[in-house]
Amino acid sequence: MLKSDIVIGLDIGTTKVCVVVAKDDLGKLNVLGKGRSNSEGLQRATVVNVNKTVDAIRKAVADAERESSIRIRGVNVGISGAHVHCIYSNSEISVNQSGIVNESDVKRFLEKAKTNIRYLDIDHEIIHVIPQEFIVDDQDGVLDPIGMAGNTMRGSAYIVVGLRTKIRNIRQCIEKAGLEVAAMTFEPVASGLAVMKESEKKSGVVVIDIGGGTTEVAIYIDGAIRYSEVIKVAANDVTHDVAYGVKALNDVAEEVKIRYGCATSRLIGEDEEILIDGIEGRPAKSFPRSSLTVIIEARMMEILELAREIIKRSGYYEYLNAGAIITGGGSLLPGTDELAREVLGLDIRIGYPEGVSGGIRDAVNNPMYATVMGLVAHSLQNSLYQDYGTLAEPVREPEPVTEPDAVPVKAGAQAQQRPKQPSRPEPVAGDQPQAGKKVIDRLKKFWDQL
Ligand SMILES: Nc1ncnc2c1ncn2[C@@H]1O[C@H](COP(=O)(O)OP(=O)(O)OP(=O)(O)O)[C@@H](O)[C@H]1O
Ligand SMILES: [Mg+2]
Repeated sequence: MLKSDIVIGLDIGTTKVCVVVAKDDLGKLNVLGKGRSNSEGLQRATVVNVNKTVDAIRKAVADAERESSIRIRGVNVGISGAHVHCIYSNSEISVNQSGIVNESDVKRFLEKAKTNIRYLDIDHEIIHVIPQEFIVDDQDGVLDPIGMAGNTMRGSAYIVVGLRTKIRNIRQCIEKAGLEVAAMTFEPVASGLAVMKESEKKSGVVVIDIGGGTTEVAIYIDGAIRYSEVIKVAANDVTHDVAYGVKALNDVAEEVKIRYGCATSRLIGEDEEILIDGIEGRPAKSFPRSSLTVIIEARMMEILELAREIIKRSGYYEYLNAGAIITGGGSLLPGTDELAREVLGLDIRIGYPEGVSGGIRDAVNNPMYATVMGLVAHSLQNSLYQDYGTLAEPVREPEPVTEPDAVPVKAGAQAQQRPKQPSRPEPVAGDQPQAGKKVIDRLKKFWDQL
């Protein structure tokens, strides 16, 4: 069986479906091809229309295959949504007879962590497992145990679980598109992996991915993920507010947001009038840019306040020495870093995918591609512990790209970096009523002033 070193990430986002084909290039990600299509089958990162999602996957995959001359068979797909949550599980194994920890010990450790979960009801299934701190005999704080001498290995693992039905919908879409699910990765884990530098991960950092339908928060301390949560408010809500505020179609509001939008009034100098297309042949109208900024700022502030509540609730706020990285398409709004600095009270930078090489690296040099780049990075990192089977094969020239043959690919436990202190199970973000009320109050005040 042909086994390639090529990895494929598939990000099925609320606004776009994106596929990246990449291979390892001396520790960097060499991007061989990328495909992107508009996504209309999801709401807040959850599939609501299978056929539309399948079409979008097919289109993005065909583009990536064409660009990379690679036939795609299996993908590492991102999973997100408020149904996903994480639980901690402890695990202990005896080291193999040689007394030196090897890869299969780590695999056994992860399998055992999965079976040790106590409270997983039948509605949920495991998406993937990330090892945390290892303790080899009495040596604690071990991040990478392979090669260490010892008799027993203990520690905890961060187990990502999600609702079976929602995962099945994603799986179904991928299979209907003629592909196999090689692995699934929680999207905040992927985005974090793509944009963080190793030093930040060690110092303590929060990665906030502001997507179209969801905002994802992942906290890394001492080199490993400690906490993650999904917020059901994101950049598309900003667009909807603009549409409501200026009384325009959503597409027009999106254009206005991208062209004139700013996350903070403090960056707007002299006011100007913006011309906005009328609906269905109605005359164009003008709207003050300062008012547009007030609308946008209110919603961006809500998103960041919700993120701050999560960070505080996690108990890790004080440990974020490297501050926050804001990524995802929502971070492209000018002034997002300024506003985030003010609301979160942390050092901020905007996160672009790191460690990318290859001729088309510029095409993925955008916060919108953080998740998909993290998905390929995660696959490369985990190939040590997981048999991905055959993900891809070269297309024989001049043969045109055709529907991929389905080749079964095993899914299983995955490993990531390791942390220090095991923490507690964590809740999934709900509708966050407190901050939600605040933004409505702010907008009401604004409308009253108009
Ligand atoms: N240049 C820009 N300026 C401001 N906003 C932008 C810009 N480009 C994209 N966006 C916004 O980013 C959002 C899409 O971000 P992204 O591609 O990360 O979302 P997604 O992955 O499809 O969704 P999700 O992760 O929530 O499922 C949209 O709301 C869009 O308006
Ligand atoms: Mg996304």
